[in-house]
Amino acid sequence: MVSRNWVAATLMMVLLGVGGAIVRAQASGDGSIKPGAAWLDDRGQVIQAHGGGILYWHKTYYWFGEDRSQSNDPEKRYVACYSSKDLTHWKYHRQVVAMADPEPWGAHYVLERPKVFYNRKTKKFVMYVHLDDARYGEARVGVLVSDKVDGDYKYQRSFRPLDQESRDIGQFVDDDGSAYLIFESRPTHGFFIAKLSDDYLNVEKQVSFIKAPLEGGAVVHYGGLYYVLGSHLSGWSPNPNVYATAPSLAGPWTEMQNVAPPETKTYDSQSSMLLKVTGTKKTTVIYMGDRWEPKTLWDSRYLWMPLEIGDGKMTLPEPRPWKIDVKTGETTRGNVE
Ligand code: DGJ
Repeated sequence: MVSRNWVAATLMMVLLGVGGAIVRAQASGDGSIKPGAAWLDDRGQVIQAHGGGILYWHKTYYWFGEDRSQSNDPEKRYVACYSSKDLTHWKYHRQVVAMADPEPWGAHYVLERPKVFYNRKTKKFVMYVHLDDARYGEARVGVLVSDKVDGDYKYQRSFRPLDQESRDIGQFVDDDGSAYLIFESRPTHGFFIAKLSDDYLNVEKQVSFIKAPLEGGAVVHYGGLYYVLGSHLSGWSPNPNVYATAPSLAGPWTEMQNVAPPETKTYDSQSSMLLKVTGTKKTTVIYMGDRWEPKTLWDSRYLWMPLEIGDGKMTLPEPRPWKIDVKTGETTRGNVE
């Protein structure tokens, strides 16, 4: 049954719509996720979690990402933390990182794509970030640690994982709980999937190297196959993101294929994470992407959509409002045409 509120809300979105099915209405009032819309938190402010990642901890989703608020001190870089029980309504916690250059690279230093892991042994929350100078010449990861999920993440150090240049990073936690960092390495024309050390404070060993110059790397394990997704290297501009599959994280990986019709440039977005929601009735994999606005980064939007996935195929459907029941894992799509 389609509720009246749902019809009214979708009609409203059509009226406000810009660019076909991609709506720019405020998000979540009717319980739907609206790809490309301004997504508001519990304070009514636009969510600042760009290039982000999700930690599922104590039955709660925590979304960490680059906080590019205009009110930020331009000499610092920020990571914000939000939480949600339903992946739709997000509560703002705080800026868990507000950090001036921890290395001697100056005020224009780069901190991007924060990803937080919870380490069961040490009970610490470990954040990886891409850390760089203004020209993206250092190509390192930074590690920050907190005792609390939304506490102050304290800077530990920066390094080059496996002694390789590392720019965009992604996170993956396998079904057995082992944690991996995905990182793009330009001189090798490819990207690595590497296992973290027991305490997660180090990148211990290479599990896979995929010879494809891709960034925005993400991995999911679904239906007995590993799927890896990434974008080509085109700065902030979108391009056709591609994926490959393998029976094991170590490969062998198939050829790369487009995840969406190439002319849509992944519906003007770039991959950030593949989030698996295992419900009582269905397992849904969500594509989390960014629509970057390089001149107004704070106004960059999110494009989240449930993927059509299985038997080695993964397709990002045309974005339109949708709902998820995180208990059952089921999703429904709105009927905005
Ligand atoms: C593409 C990356 O995916 C982004 O995180 C950012 O580093 C931009 N390049 C910068 O041009």
